[in-house]
Formats: sequence, C-alpha cells, structure tokens
Amino acid sequence: MKPAIARRPRLEAMPASLLAKPLDYIFADHFRQRALCNLLEELADAAALDEALAREVVVFLTGDMAVHVLDEENDLFPLLRRRCPPEDEIEAVLGALAREHEADERMAGNIVEGLEACVATGSAPRADADLRARLIEFARRQRRHLAVENSIVLPIARQRLTELDLANLTKRMTERRS
Ligand SMILES: [Fe+2]
Ligand SMILES: [Fe+2]
Repeated sequence: MKPAIARRPRLEAMPASLLAKPLDYIFADHFRQRALCNLLEELADAAALDEALAREVVVFLTGDMAVHVLDEENDLFPLLRRRCPPEDEIEAVLGALAREHEADERMAGNIVEGLEACVATGSAPRADADLRARLIEFARRQRRHLAVENSIVLPIARQRLTELDLANLTKRMTERRS
C-alpha cells in the first residue's frame, strides 16, 4: 500500500517575496544548489533508483537552475561589469564563471539524458559508470563555482550596485519567473 502522505520535494521552492532583495535571493538559490550537489551524490551512490528524486533533479536542472544562470549572465554580471572599477579585477572572475556556466550547461544536459534513461529503464545511475562519474564531477565543480560566487561576486555586488541597479535586478528576475 502506498503511504498516505505525498512525498515532499527534496529541493524547496524559493519564496517569491525574496525577489525584493535580489542578492539575497541569489544567495539563497546557491544554498539550494548546494543541496542539489548532495542529491546528485546520493543518486550516484544509491543501489536502487529513487525515481522521484531523479525526476526532481531533472526538473531542477532544466528549470530553476537554468533560470539562475540567466539571472547571472544576463543581469548580475553585466551590472558588475558596468559598476566595478578596474581595481576590483572582476572581469577575470566573471569570464571564468561564464566559461564554467557554458561547460556546466553541457554537463547538465548529459546528466538529464542519463537520468531520463534511468527512469525509462528503472536502473540505478551507478550501473552506468559514465553517468555516475558525471554526477560526482558536476557536484564537485558546482561547489567550487558556488564558493567563488558567494565569496567574491556577491560581496562585490553588495558594495558596488546602486539602489536603482538592485530595483532593476528585482524587476528582471521577477519577469523571468512570471
Ligand atoms: Fe550562481
Ligand atoms: Fe553561476
């Protein structure tokens, strides 16, 4: 018999009210991405497929995670390029992060395909050595990426962006989610 209580999502939805503070929203989104990294490792190591978890990860990678990268690439990074003086040396950091976004998008696409195949066949990801390695590598790369964004990009953004920049960021991020 199935349990009466529906399965709770492992990645919580973001509170829309937080969009009023866009840098806090991005920071909180990073916290969810750290949770995603733990779930990717859980999927990689599990003896049996957790189908609901695999589906949830696919939806997150193709949805909220892709939207987050657009927030950074289309709005936050251009604002920083405009506001930061050369002594911040932000361009090298943003350039490296943008290259990582590109590589990670390709890797996420491969992971999505792999997990969809697992759901179709019912097999655990760890039965596919390539997929297992990709899940673990993506989590490792993502944690490093998040550390750079949290320790360098967000603190500089808090210092350099104006009230108007933040209001525009709120507007753009809200539109992207509507
Ligand atoms: Fe980010
Ligand atoms: Fe990023």
